[in-house]
Order: sequence, then structure tokens, then C-alpha cells
Amino acid sequence: MQAFIEGMPKAELHVHIEGTLEPELSFALAEKNGIELPFDSPEALIAAYDFHDLPSFLTIYYAGMSVLIDESDFYKLTWDYLEKAASQNVVYTEIFFDPQGHTSRGVAFETVITGIRKAQVDAEQKLGIRSQLIMCFLRDMSAESAMEHLQMAKPYLGWLVGVGLDSDEYNNPPVKFKDVFALAKQWGLKLTMHCDVNQKNTLDHIRQVIEVIGVDRIDHGVNSLESDELCELIVEKQLGLTVCPVSNRFVVQSLTANEIRTMLDKGMLATINSDDPAYFRAYMNENLIELQQEGDFSQSELKTLMANAFKVTWLPEEDKAAYL
Ligand code: ADE
Ligand code: ZN
Repeated sequence: MQAFIEGMPKAELHVHIEGTLEPELSFALAEKNGIELPFDSPEALIAAYDFHDLPSFLTIYYAGMSVLIDESDFYKLTWDYLEKAASQNVVYTEIFFDPQGHTSRGVAFETVITGIRKAQVDAEQKLGIRSQLIMCFLRDMSAESAMEHLQMAKPYLGWLVGVGLDSDEYNNPPVKFKDVFALAKQWGLKLTMHCDVNQKNTLDHIRQVIEVIGVDRIDHGVNSLESDELCELIVEKQLGLTVCPVSNRFVVQSLTANEIRTMLDKGMLATINSDDPAYFRAYMNENLIELQQEGDFSQSELKTLMANAFKVTWLPEEDKAAYL
């Protein structure tokens, strides 16, 4: 089964590039940039990863960004992720980035997006892995800040396939960003938003992303199973759900294997993703292998999960066909 999983051509649709920052790279960049980390070694840094909910994870995730300063840092971060993904037979990936996590530290938007883009182009040429970029807004920042960042992205629209919404969901509902997402849609960008597992008002948030924002996909969205009506809407609109099993384990102590199987049984387009693989210590193969073990998934179910991912990618329809 492990060989089957490793050999499958895979698509990943929910991975935060800042969440792929490996401790070894953190140390290398800290040294290069003259930044002192409050740990003696990469192992000590990993030992300090103490997540039990979304806020406790986000604190560590944002602190980790401090070593990313110049274009070459964003290039190396992205190149290393794409190299790792390609080594796991990921043939296509849609990558999130969080520009506000960098502009708020004085790093220019252009520095961030140019470093990421150059690595994407090189990785496609040299490693054969195709990728597209999704700009996320931090939902615990203001709608005005999100709008400013959308405007900053205007000269780079050709490098973006869509926009997303991440960070702390508590009291930050999707409707807060209604105008920002409406403008992004007008500009031809695809839309997705996080509805993380077990957040306050999660069913309201899932309803808003579908009915008010009109998203093309939902990130996580596992709690939709609590409402037959929402499940039916998700099936009717053929919305992909980018589920992240190992990430879920930090919040609900389970890889949500039962929930993922229920989604498949209901005809929902569930997909498997790594979210923040350097922090959760699991890339695509590890997510799939652990999920298969927890839920005793068959090869046919795993194939369905991966076919779902290719179906709900934001590739042109004619390009999708090559993978299905
Ligand atoms: N930022 C990075 N990973 C995230 C996640 N899983 N949920 C919300 N915001 C995030
Ligand atoms: Zn995420």
C-alpha cells in the first residue's frame, strides 16, 4: 500500500509556502541574515512545536517567518518545497502565500512574490512540477489591509490563479472580506477560503463562503458534515474540499478518516493535502499513508481522492484532462 501511495501521481491544493519552512532552512537563513533564533538547534526548534489548536499553531508559524528577508530566501523556501513535492510524485500544486505576514515586517510585496515566482518557473523547467500561486489574506487583519494587498497584486495578476483567506477564524467571518473577494473575482481570480475544523460559528462561516462569497473551493470544510443542507449545496455546486488530515490531528486528535470517507460516500469532492508540512512533519505521502492506516482506505478510495484533487484544480479544463 505504501508503494502504491508513493507511486501515485498527486496534486496538492492546500499548502502554505511559509508552512513548508523546514527547521534546517530556518537556521541557515537566520545565520545568513544575522537573525538570532531562540533555539540552539533545528531539533530544539522542532521540540518547541506545541500546537493544540489554531491560535497556538499560528503563533509559532508567524514567529517562523522572521528569517525570510530577501528575494533569495523566498526563492529557496519555494524551491525546497517544490523539490520535496516532486520527489513525492506531486505533479501539480497550488501554493498559498501570506504577503501580509511579510509586509507587516517591512519586507516588500515585490520581494516575496518575485522570489516565489522565480522558483516556480525554475522548478517547472528543471523538475517537471507544475504549480500556480494563491494569495491569502490574513482574516485577523482588517478588510482595508486585505484590499490594499489586492491592489499591490494588480501588476502581478498573471502570476496569481486565485485568492484565499486564512489565519485566525475566531470572530473573523468570511463576510468581513465580501468586497475584497468580489473585486478579486471581477479581476478573474478564483476564490477559496479556510473554514478550519471546529471553529466558532463554523456552519455560519461555511454557509457564508458558499452563499455570500461564492467560493470556487473550501479549505478544510469538514464541519459541513453536520448539516445535510450544506452537504447538498457542496455536492450540487461541485465544490472541492481541501482536507488536511495530519493538520486536523492537532485540533481534533484524529486524521478525520471517518469524515473523509463520509464525504466520499456523499459524493463530495474531498481532497487530501499537507497544509503546513514542515510544522506538522508530514508532506503529501505521509498524510496519505497515515490516513490510509487510520481509515483502512482501499486503493480505489485513494484513487478517488486523488482524482477529486485533479478535478477541482484551477487548471484550464483541457490541461486537467491530461491528469484524469
Ligand atoms: N495559516 C497557515 N496554516 C493555516 C491553517 N491551517 N489555518 C488557518 N490559517 C493558516
Ligand atoms: Zn491551511
